[in-house]
Amino acid sequence: MWNDKRAIDLLEIEHPLIQAPMAGPTNPQIVAAVSEAGGLGGLGASGKSLDDLRVTIREIKSLTDRPFNVNLFNRSTEVYDSEARLGPILKELLQSYHSDMGLGPVPDPIPLYGPADKQLEVLIDERVPVVSFHFGVDAQTVATAKEAGAKVLCSATTVSEAILLEKLGVDAIIAQGAEAGGHRGTFQGDYRQALVGAVALVPRVVDAVSVPVIAAGGIMDSRGIVACLALGASAVQMGTAFLGCPEATVAPVWRDALEGAEAESTVVTEVLSGKPARGLHNRYIEELEAIDEPLLPYPSQSAVARELRKEAASRGEASFVAMWAGQGVGLFRRQPAADLVKQLVAESLQLINRLASG
Ligand SMILES: Cc1cc2nc3c(=O)[nH]c(=O)nc-3n(C[C@H](O)[C@H](O)[C@H](O)COP(=O)(O)O)c2cc1C
Repeated sequence: MWNDKRAIDLLEIEHPLIQAPMAGPTNPQIVAAVSEAGGLGGLGASGKSLDDLRVTIREIKSLTDRPFNVNLFNRSTEVYDSEARLGPILKELLQSYHSDMGLGPVPDPIPLYGPADKQLEVLIDERVPVVSFHFGVDAQTVATAKEAGAKVLCSATTVSEAILLEKLGVDAIIAQGAEAGGHRGTFQGDYRQALVGAVALVPRVVDAVSVPVIAAGGIMDSRGIVACLALGASAVQMGTAFLGCPEATVAPVWRDALEGAEAESTVVTEVLSGKPARGLHNRYIEELEAIDEPLLPYPSQSAVARELRKEAASRGEASFVAMWAGQGVGLFRRQPAADLVKQLVAESLQLINRLASG
């Protein structure tokens, strides 16, 4: 059915279609639905406590016998700086938002993610079949996961990151184009130079490494999938496309905003978390970017806005919600996950046949 079977065989799935492990929106229901439909479902687990992580993995296993992926952030980036404090300008701005929303004082930073080492122990204990990483990974972590029998994936945003990941022993590389929603996976150099579109990035990564390459960024339908396979990718990873699935945990205000958005509605910004990420532009991004003061380090920059985001989401107030989205958002549609996978597979195979028959 599919010409290039390298990712399919590696991950033991039917179709070269991976649902991005998105911290926040993903849960056992969407993971199991995608894996049951023959793709690879994925849980974004970076923000999960160890107990919650274990329970969630067990729930996935109760819903599907098929392979699935659990994603962690690089253990070296998940270091919490307990000394970091808000600057006066940012503090005043956040406090004014809090007052407008009837909230109390701006909360102090807390560790939001990890500890990734301990999370990995849970994954190994629970025999998670595929483990993926964002923001890079180290050789020891790769070796530990592989010794436990897991397949290991990691995102790269440049050719040189991809070459390093192959040397570290990862089984497949996710080439994350600049179009991608959510955090940039960049772990080397200036992220602005690593904003490489998928059409430029994927073939260069395919040429540079011998492991299978998974294309990501802006892929929303069969045209994007087939184009990436033509670029040499062995599979695709799609995030924003799955935010329209009713199974995904997405605040209604965010989902509604995705519906009317286009590529130019999105921006890559550091103000949401302290690390560059692509999301829908809103008042919060605009006003924080205008501040002339250093941001808090990642992830404290995100932690201080946690109460504001929650309150805004519950009120349907888009101005203060972090609404991650990729540049393909104009093709956003609402559809159950299994139907989406089936439709993407059927349309991609039709398109491949149509192209082959001239
Ligand atoms: C809401 C959202 C959350 C994300 N969270 C993660 C994450 O926790 N870990 C990760 O490796 N990638 C994460 N990503 C990035 C995806 O893995 C992938 O690179 C991206 O979704 C591809 O671009 P697309 O959204 O245009 O399909 C996230 C993306 C989105 C949209």
